[in-house]
Amino acid sequence: MSGDMTEHDEHGHGALAVDEHGHGHVAPSGDPFADPGLPEHRPRLTDIDEKAAKRSERIVASLFMLSAIATIGFMVCYTQVPNNRQTLVNFWPLGAVSASNFALGVCLGVALFALGAGAIYWARTLMTDVELPQERHEYESSNEDKAAAIVEFQQGVEDSDWKKRPLIRRTLIGAMAVLPLPALWILRDLGPLPGTTQRQTAWAPGMLIINDNTVSLDGTKGQGIKPADITIGTLVNARPAAALSAGEELNNVLSMSSILLVRMNEADIKSQQEIDWGYHGIVAFSKICTHVGCPVALYEQQTHHMLCPCHQSTFDLSEDGKVIFGPAARSLPQLPITVNADGYLVAKSGFDQPVGPSFWERG
Ligand code: FES
Repeated sequence: MSGDMTEHDEHGHGALAVDEHGHGHVAPSGDPFADPGLPEHRPRLTDIDEKAAKRSERIVASLFMLSAIATIGFMVCYTQVPNNRQTLVNFWPLGAVSASNFALGVCLGVALFALGAGAIYWARTLMTDVELPQERHEYESSNEDKAAAIVEFQQGVEDSDWKKRPLIRRTLIGAMAVLPLPALWILRDLGPLPGTTQRQTAWAPGMLIINDNTVSLDGTKGQGIKPADITIGTLVNARPAAALSAGEELNNVLSMSSILLVRMNEADIKSQQEIDWGYHGIVAFSKICTHVGCPVALYEQQTHHMLCPCHQSTFDLSEDGKVIFGPAARSLPQLPITVNADGYLVAKSGFDQPVGPSFWERG
């Protein structure tokens, strides 16, 4: 049988328990989580020295002004710093980064940091620092507590010297007022309305069809396709010759003008128009799914079905690219083709309808 002897420590905070082996440990007594109370309040330098308070006021105002300047700098950089692949800055440790992104990031970062730093410095040096303990209570405050909170808030506003220090008040309002402007500023990039440009692709009569597999890494060179290059059942990804000189517009051109060429027995093609728009069984269809624009790419040569991997829309390439399954609402547009004097496949015209998502049907 074991037993503990206990004795209170010299401060009366707990009890020293001694077990039968003579080992002691502190045993809590009373409330072990007793409120230690607030430390003694000490006035800050700015509480007792008006010069120090003025200095703090100037620092806060400077930070708010810095924030406003950085916000304006953001807008200036947005329009003045070129946003292209040639204008770079070296930023350790990231290396070469876009000068535009760098400038915008720095300006916005400084604007937000200076605003936050000014608010914190204001609170720490000039606003009242009287600590008020708040007891735990039910989640919903009583009406009395709510009324008291409003009074405390108003007192806080009073204590923050909001009214007494117009310099801080005005610079803060100025910094806050310009902060949302970048959001409006960048709306200008929505640019002019697209008009009918989204309805047209790069395809035009006589445009050479380039085999994607022959395009150089920089996208500026590629070879045309002769009908003999496409055997029955083969699928060829292709682009217009205009894509080779598209430069920075390359992705835009490809997103509108990529096509697929397949060859099938003419006897398998169910539509006379499709036969007429093809060349000896070679037919060209837009590669852009008419659901929401994924590239269709999975061709089943026995059935001539083309599957979109995104949401499984399935198009029948032997019947005008019509939808036979899935959420797409429109057939894949067919590009009329022929051969040129050199025997290469070319477009006979552009598409007769917009390519891509079915929202075109709505307007
Ligand atoms: S994008 Fe092709 S099925 Fe949805």
